[in-house]
Amino acid sequence: MKNSLICWLLLLLAGPAALANSDLTPTQLRVEYRTNPFTDEAKPRLSWVLESGRRNQHQSAYRILVASKPELLEAGQADLWDSGKIANDQTAQVVYGGTALTSRQQCFWKVQSWDKEGQPGPWSQAASWEMGLLEAADWKAAWIGKDFAPGTAPAPFKGKELLLPPAPIFRKEVSVGQKLVKARLYITALGLFEFKINGQRIGKDYLAPGWTDYNQRVYYQAYDVTEHLKSGKQVLQARLSYGWYSGYIGYALLVGNPVVRAFYGEVPALKAQLELTYENGQTQTVATGSDWNVSSGGLSESDILHGETYDAREEPENWHLPGYDDSHWEAAEHIATAERQLQLYPAQPVQVTDTLSPVSITERTNGTFIVNLGQNIAGLIRLRVKGKAGDKIVLRFGEMLHPDGRLMVENLRMARATDTYILKGDPEGEEWVPGFTYHGFQYVEVTGFPGTPQKENFTGLVLGSNTPRAGHFETDHPLVNQLYQNIVWTQRANFVDIPTDCPQRDERMGWTGDAQIYGGTSALNMDVAAFFTKWIRDLQDAQWESGAYPDYAPAPSVRASDTFAPGWMEAGIINPYEMYRAYGDTRIIERSWENMEKFMAFHAKRSGDRYIYPEGSFADLSPKGGYGDWLSIGKKTPPDMLATIYYGYTAQLMAEMAAAIGKSTRALHYQELAGKIKAAFASHYLDETSGKLTTNPKPYGDGSGYVDGHQGFSGHTQTAYANAIYHDFLSKSQQEAAGKHLADLLAANGEKLATGFLGVKQLLPALSATGRSDLAYQLLLTTEYPSWGFEIENGATTIWERWDSYVKDDPEKMESLNAGMNSFSHYAFGSVYEWMFRNMAGIRAELPGYKSFTIAPEIPKKEIHRAQASYQSIHGEILSSWKRSDSSLSLEVVIPVNTRAVVWIPTDDPASVLLDGKSLHGQADISLGNFLDGRQAVVLGSGRYRFESTLHP
Ligand code: BGC
Repeated sequence: MKNSLICWLLLLLAGPAALANSDLTPTQLRVEYRTNPFTDEAKPRLSWVLESGRRNQHQSAYRILVASKPELLEAGQADLWDSGKIANDQTAQVVYGGTALTSRQQCFWKVQSWDKEGQPGPWSQAASWEMGLLEAADWKAAWIGKDFAPGTAPAPFKGKELLLPPAPIFRKEVSVGQKLVKARLYITALGLFEFKINGQRIGKDYLAPGWTDYNQRVYYQAYDVTEHLKSGKQVLQARLSYGWYSGYIGYALLVGNPVVRAFYGEVPALKAQLELTYENGQTQTVATGSDWNVSSGGLSESDILHGETYDAREEPENWHLPGYDDSHWEAAEHIATAERQLQLYPAQPVQVTDTLSPVSITERTNGTFIVNLGQNIAGLIRLRVKGKAGDKIVLRFGEMLHPDGRLMVENLRMARATDTYILKGDPEGEEWVPGFTYHGFQYVEVTGFPGTPQKENFTGLVLGSNTPRAGHFETDHPLVNQLYQNIVWTQRANFVDIPTDCPQRDERMGWTGDAQIYGGTSALNMDVAAFFTKWIRDLQDAQWESGAYPDYAPAPSVRASDTFAPGWMEAGIINPYEMYRAYGDTRIIERSWENMEKFMAFHAKRSGDRYIYPEGSFADLSPKGGYGDWLSIGKKTPPDMLATIYYGYTAQLMAEMAAAIGKSTRALHYQELAGKIKAAFASHYLDETSGKLTTNPKPYGDGSGYVDGHQGFSGHTQTAYANAIYHDFLSKSQQEAAGKHLADLLAANGEKLATGFLGVKQLLPALSATGRSDLAYQLLLTTEYPSWGFEIENGATTIWERWDSYVKDDPEKMESLNAGMNSFSHYAFGSVYEWMFRNMAGIRAELPGYKSFTIAPEIPKKEIHRAQASYQSIHGEILSSWKRSDSSLSLEVVIPVNTRAVVWIPTDDPASVLLDGKSLHGQADISLGNFLDGRQAVVLGSGRYRFESTLHP
């Protein structure tokens, strides 16, 4: 009786909207882009996705409840926040507005939405988040470590011998009392860590805590370890490696840099704290300190680039058991280090996202085998083996084989990429997965295997940031499907904590040019919101004093000449902008604003306030002009012309972003600036009469010092027109002329592309924008060099760095290539997916976060008969799926609840268009738009719609 009275009272307190009269249901509740995360955002942003069985549905209001306990939430008692009924249609980026959150606060939340008729839907399922350690004083743990190579610092690398000290292991026994209700592990490293409790690995993360400018910030991970602990003696175990902090990074070895490793510090360090809460409210904290013991544990070498050597005989037996005698171990050393800003890792960590079995194993010479995974990946091999103690298995990794079957390692340059396992001889067999390295590979050369290796001895572990899949794409054309798969695999191989250029050679750095070109595309494949939240911070941390953004981030300059470059440095503007467009994220704009303004001021100064970069403006860089249209073919597009376009383009983006965060004066300023840059560009680089883009090659001299400068420079290139069109630099008539010139250039080049990094993304969209979708399709489908099809014909399973990275069965060609600069997993050329998504499938965001969008597929006349793209937007799933026959087209679309779309249905005859088998006229669910250029427009609210129309090729 008393209970039911309380329930009734609670119901009353929960407010008016308890009963559901609508089917509008909030699902996929997320906080800071993740599901039930730990966060240290003081005011985290919440989002949900609405579902409804009705068409044209949207949210008219919502209410969020946040409680400190699940029971309270269930009872409708929102002791942290009751938003009240908020009358708007926002379902993402909703900022928490309740009681100030403190360290360790658990927050349980749910949301209810009202439909367009003002009827309430059911409450969502409950979700949660938990605050991390918000105050420096929360940390009781010391940095501990062990210097296994004393006296080597700061001795620079000389010769070929690598300095790879062993990885220390740490051990601590703790007594856990009765009735433990909650246990959290907060852990980080200057280096990389792996943590176990009683022999069980905590978390699934690899390469944690990730790469940052460790001098400015270090991320930590938080884990719920309640289930791992029992009362009584428990064993805490850690292993620590060198990682990006004190291991080898980049191509420092290759270029003979004075510093080749330990860029941030010599000795790695671990900081961990286990916090236990008992039923009676008592807490207990176990923190790293000199009461932890340290030893070496079999991992005699471990390095991201070079791989691991592990001797299973050296791992202390039973050190995971309570009572193991570690008295002969040493006390862990306090590592004296400056205090650093510790923050919760804001993104999905690097994890094993897939496993692959070998497709073949072949014996080459006596005892040397080649394992083929059938797919180029970034990751590791899990080895399962039975043999004698002391048997030594060596695994070398490569992306390709030479035509004679040898493993190709030339393109790894100075990355040793070798893992060695020495067996302890367990009669039951043994299993090993390296913990602190990864490789870019499809093939593994195995030597020393006891007996004949079988497929089941090897499992390929696909490693990468565990960004949720957001898109799928499929057609009836195998080449296009393979291309799409190659793009996705390349992204998976290179989104490894940061967006790297490549996963295999001695580089793997966050090159900014690559990331700005591909950033937008990446969001179509995976949910990269949290991933880029992290990396944009890295980029800001690496911004130069001058305001320029660097060539790569994070990382100290590997060599003095790595400074900034047009087309690279703009990542600081373009990547935040892509986040805003994809997810409607304005916080990233606010948090980047000062940095971005500083960058634009750098531009103004550098260009002498002339709004233009004339030829030779970047001759002081090394290489001169920067990297320009990197890896293009034939005559070079002047880097200064591209720099001017990038300046104008970023001014345009700044105007849009300023408006988005309510800075209207700055918006106006940047709008005007963009106009001035475009005008200056036209008067300098455009021949008004012919509409040709031109350049004065004189300042480039013989081109020496410029990337591929010997090819000569021309303004009349594919890349030049593609950029001017794509970045909206031309008037309507100029654009028309530019489109013709671009088509002529293609014709003169045998209908082949010639673009490099700075032209490839823009090329097909520029053709479509100037009415030559046919040419865009032709480029996409050709298999002649240079093209995406050529790569696929030559066996590519990922996107190559160069258009001619490999030619099947042509050893001579291979010899003539630049073997060292030849990655088989480089995503820049994969930016063609932007066109496939936006033009072939025709999905294009109008408002940020796809709050409103267009579906306008470009249907080719031949070869492809069916294409389908789906995309999990922040508002829900979008689909565009078309299929054509000789005389008709069907188009199926899905529009998420709470969004609107204009769909353009290709047809010869607007009267032939049917929706759900019925004429469009008088249909209640849609409003009819214009018939324009062979396409009938309809305006749609949410729902699934199937159109048919007549369409002849
Ligand atoms: C990287 C690129 C990068 C470039 C600069 C290369 O070594 O792999 O992808 O953008 O250097 O031109």
